[in-house]
Amino acid sequence: MKKIILSFIAGCFVLTATAQTKITFNTDLAKTKISKHIYGHFAEHLGRCIYGGMYVGEGNTKIPNTAGVRNDVIAALKDLKVPNLRWPGGCFADAYQWKDGIGPKEKRPKMVNVWWGGVTEDNSFGTHDFLDLCEKIGAEPYLAGNVGSGSVKDLADWVSYVNQPTGSPMSDLRIQNGRKTPWNVKIWGVGNEAWGCGGNMTADYYANIYRQYATFMKDITPESELYKVASGASSNDFAWTETLMKNIPHNMMSALALHHYSVLSWKETKGPSVGFTETQYFKTMDEAWKMEEFITKHSTIMDKYDPQKKIDLIVDEWGGWYETDAEGKGALYQQNTMRDAMIAGLTLNIFNNHADRVRGANLAQIVNVLQAVILTNEEKMLLTPTFHVMKMYNVHQDATLVPMSIESPTYEFNGKKLIAVNSSASKDASGALNISLTNIDYRKSHEVIINLRGEDFSKVSGQILASASISDHNTFEQPNKVLVKDFSGAKLEKGVLKLTIPAYSVIVLKATK
Ligand code: AHR
Repeated sequence: MKKIILSFIAGCFVLTATAQTKITFNTDLAKTKISKHIYGHFAEHLGRCIYGGMYVGEGNTKIPNTAGVRNDVIAALKDLKVPNLRWPGGCFADAYQWKDGIGPKEKRPKMVNVWWGGVTEDNSFGTHDFLDLCEKIGAEPYLAGNVGSGSVKDLADWVSYVNQPTGSPMSDLRIQNGRKTPWNVKIWGVGNEAWGCGGNMTADYYANIYRQYATFMKDITPESELYKVASGASSNDFAWTETLMKNIPHNMMSALALHHYSVLSWKETKGPSVGFTETQYFKTMDEAWKMEEFITKHSTIMDKYDPQKKIDLIVDEWGGWYETDAEGKGALYQQNTMRDAMIAGLTLNIFNNHADRVRGANLAQIVNVLQAVILTNEEKMLLTPTFHVMKMYNVHQDATLVPMSIESPTYEFNGKKLIAVNSSASKDASGALNISLTNIDYRKSHEVIINLRGEDFSKVSGQILASASISDHNTFEQPNKVLVKDFSGAKLEKGVLKLTIPAYSVIVLKATK
């Protein structure tokens, strides 16, 4: 079998042929922080993400809740250590009138969700509900502003409503609505997918619009200095990144976004979320691996205009996208299997290894939509394999990336090849080294030999997410079919770690001194 060496040298992966799975971590060369915001999530008014998912309302429900948000969801999200949560869209953001979602709930006007199924919403989950939820789960809010169908004034007013302590019409309105102190929201999206549902704009036109909107989004207090995110490219639209980097003054933009979904096809079938073929599995992994290429190429363009890497790349939508299960068009409800665990493990390793430019990301989406970490059905709730991977990888949040080189065998199917084992590692504040490994191979386990160069470690412990079938998933009848287990299969001797990683599994190891 052919093997591939993947070395991460000066921000680029270098591929060469080799014979064995080997990794070297240069523990003494760790210097780049992995921003915890890489582990962010996304909640859109779409299907049952908000209404009938996280939010069940305060009135007529037997589901235990706090201010209408399910207590079991709150507990799970706290456990997950969600660093930031993006809301209210997605495409929905550019149709959302935030002023319709404040004040007494019974007086709020209804709206039609034009992007997602044309359903009528009562605006009962609005700005206060979202920002209070973020406080409860300890997540930083990431508000996506309406540029497509809103106005500069509306967005400037929203900033003032949530961030002005007192003395403005908007702060007075907030206080009148029951919230005395501002929330100090820092992260703001200036529109979403401006090239598509956000207004079908050209890059040149959006760059101008961005400048106009950003001018009126003011830093009000030092605690709420704004972090403005420009609507970024889709997958391989490198011209979009080039135009924005060229035309938007860099002091007006904190970050540029990128969206990439692991989808089989936008035109034909996206395939089922469960019971997929190996052809479909391979294609999903191929799409997931493209994240590496896209980040590298977008970063290279950003480097040309911003060699000091002041502007962040934020992948604020990513994940697997399949045909909707059962709930009708526009709901985007799908099951979540070990295939999704592979997307998550691989993608997070890619993000970690690009921590010098990728400083945020948002998995789409948090509850009941696309690659969700939580699924709900009436009073029942379950945690998906993706939840478990995100939680296992939490150890990397705000830790220091350890530079690496990796030689991996390939996963081969129908004459095509993908790198099978991928990895990343970081050192945490206690000095422990955390190593994450994902083997996307559909058929084979792989022996892994890890050289811990630069420092001495004496103990190793670990966790594994593995299951008998790639299609395995948790159901409301069997919510613990796919679960994290302790892993004691890694042996550490004279600075070398040896283990075997099963087919389609994720392992996180902790080495201590
Ligand atoms: O996440 C679902 C949708 O995908 C979002 O609303 C949009 O931004 C993207 O096209």
